[in-house]
Amino acid sequence: MLKLGVNIDHVATLREARYRGCGQGEPDPVAAALIAEAAGAHGITAHLREDRRHIQDRDVWQLRQVIKTRLNLEMANAPEIVGIALRLHPEIICLVPERRQEVTTEGGLDVVGQEQALQATCARMRAAGIEVSLFIVPDPEQVAASARVGAEFIELHTGAYAEHFKDATGRRRELDRLRHAARQAHDLGLRVNAGHGLNYENLRAIHEVPHLVELNIGHSIISRSVTTGLAAAVGDMLALMEGYCG
Ligand code: PXP
Repeated sequence: MLKLGVNIDHVATLREARYRGCGQGEPDPVAAALIAEAAGAHGITAHLREDRRHIQDRDVWQLRQVIKTRLNLEMANAPEIVGIALRLHPEIICLVPERRQEVTTEGGLDVVGQEQALQATCARMRAAGIEVSLFIVPDPEQVAASARVGAEFIELHTGAYAEHFKDATGRRRELDRLRHAARQAHDLGLRVNAGHGLNYENLRAIHEVPHLVELNIGHSIISRSVTTGLAAAVGDMLALMEGYCG
């Protein structure tokens, strides 16, 4: 069964827009995580950025205490955040590139260019019993490097697929890239997640991509929740994921 990880960063974005620096405020991403879990989400994803733009430290510690599924901590491979992850002990971390000016995570991680540093972090996480996923674009070189550094998972960046979804040629090209990368990763012993830009319109075609374990989805679910409520938004997404054959 294809699993759904709900990314709650955008709940925190809305809170910070009004209550930055207040130490509390609505909407509460931890409350949202509990609703998402009750509606069937298989995991909760939160990105503790170095600039603390949305998720705050107190959020991840509360999440660690209350969620019953899996906590996926998205993070940069930066010493401060690595230290927090080792203390927090999420089930899995997803290493992402982080540039201060971007609105969200725009590109994939350059695993080829950072093999040594990533290998060291993978080893530290493995020793602590924390799985590691690397957020990469569907490029054969990046997939091969991800296997070499000792990550358990890759998360395939579906942003280009989402961007080209409405153009038949571009959509075909991006789906083929995702399919090939997933197959290559599977053959190398990696497990495969995917995410970024997935929504209620482009989700069904993702069923073509083999070997997927989990989709991490944030913006579309949180956006829909404004009008339908979060439980319904999670349920609608789970319904679109049903029947995945892997
Ligand atoms: N996966 C990763 C690694 C991400 O950085 C993000 C965006 O924060 C997502 C998934 C979710 O993307 P979206 O909010 O577009 O669903």
